[in-house]
Amino acid sequence: MPGRTPPDPAMLDRLERYYDLVPRVAARTEEVGPFTLFVSTGAWPFYARPRLGLDRSVTLSDVLDVLVRQRELGVPQALEWVAETTPSLAAAARAAGLQVDLLPLMVLVMPPITIPPPPGVAVRLLRADDPSIAAAQVVSRLGFDAPGTAPGPAGGLDRDAELQTHDAATDAFVRGLIDSGHLVTAVAEGAQEGVLAVGNHAPRADVSEVLGVATLPAARRHGIGAALTSLLVDDALGRGVDTVFLSAGSEEIARVYERVGFHRAATAGIAHPVPATPATSD
Ligand SMILES: CC(C)(COP(=O)(O)OP(=O)(O)OC[C@H]1O[C@@H](n2cnc3c(N)ncnc32)[C@H](O)[C@@H]1OP(=O)(O)O)[C@@H](O)C(=O)NCCC(=O)NCCS
Repeated sequence: MPGRTPPDPAMLDRLERYYDLVPRVAARTEEVGPFTLFVSTGAWPFYARPRLGLDRSVTLSDVLDVLVRQRELGVPQALEWVAETTPSLAAAARAAGLQVDLLPLMVLVMPPITIPPPPGVAVRLLRADDPSIAAAQVVSRLGFDAPGTAPGPAGGLDRDAELQTHDAATDAFVRGLIDSGHLVTAVAEGAQEGVLAVGNHAPRADVSEVLGVATLPAARRHGIGAALTSLLVDDALGRGVDTVFLSAGSEEIARVYERVGFHRAATAGIAHPVPATPATSD
C-alpha cells in the first residue's frame, strides 16, 4: 500500500508468538499440515492459524485438509493469520472457496491519547464477581449483531429483554478468565441507562490484544467506544504491557482506534465460508 511503512519484523514476531499463546487457555491444539488448529474447550469458538515459525508456503491442499478436519470435529471452518507473515494463505483460502477479509492490524504508538467518556457516562473495569458481566455479554452480542459504526435502534430495552433469557454459561467462562487474569473486561455505563458498551483486552506477559469492543447501536457516535478503548489501553500499560494491538473490523472502525493512538502496522487475515444469501421469492 503506498505510503505505508513496511511492517517491523520484530513486531510481527511478537504478534505471532502472542497469537500462538492466547487461545491455549481455553483450547486444545492439533497440528494439521502447516496449521495449528485450536479446538475450543470453553465457550468461545476458535480457528486454525499457520504454525508458529512456519517456513514454507501454504497450498490449496493444506487449506482443504484443515477444513475437512474442522468439519469432522464440528468446529467452525475458520482461519486467521497475519498477511505479511504468511503471504501465501490468502490466495490458497480463496482457491478453497472461502471468503477472505484483510483487516487493519493496528498497534498502539506511545504515548496513548487519553479519551474521557462523554458527560453522564462512566467507564470501569469489571471484577470476576461483578453482577454486570451478564449485561456486558448481551451488549456485546447486540453490538456485533449491528456491524459497522452506524447508530441503530437496539438499546437498553433490548438489552434488558435479552437478559431474561440469557444463557449464564458464557458468563461463568468469562468470570473464570477475568479471575485468572487472562481477560480484562471494561464497560461504559450511563447513570440511568446501565451498560451501554463493553470491551476487553487479553494480557499475556508484555503483549495484549484489545478485542470485542462493542457499543449498543442506540448509544453510538457519542465517543463511548473511544473512551472504553482508552481505559483498556491505560489498564494494559499499567500492567507492564508494552505492545497493545488490535484488529479493526473495517477501515471505518479503524478510525475510532486511531483517535486513541493506534496506527496501522500490518494486515490481519480471516477466512470463513461465504455466508449463504437468503433465497428470494421473486
Ligand atoms: C466500533 C464501535 C465500537 C464504535 O463505538 P462508538 O461508541 O460509536 O465509538 P465513538 O463514538 O468513539 O466513535 C464513533 C464515531 O462517532 C464519532 N463521534 C464521537 N463523539 C461524537 C459526538 N459527540 N458527536 C458526534 N459524533 C461523535 C467519532 O468521531 C466516530 O466517527 P468517525 O470515526 O466516523 O469519524 C461501534 O460502532 C460498534 O459496536 N460496532 C459494531 C461492533 C464492532 O464492529 N466492534 C469493533 C470490533 S473491531
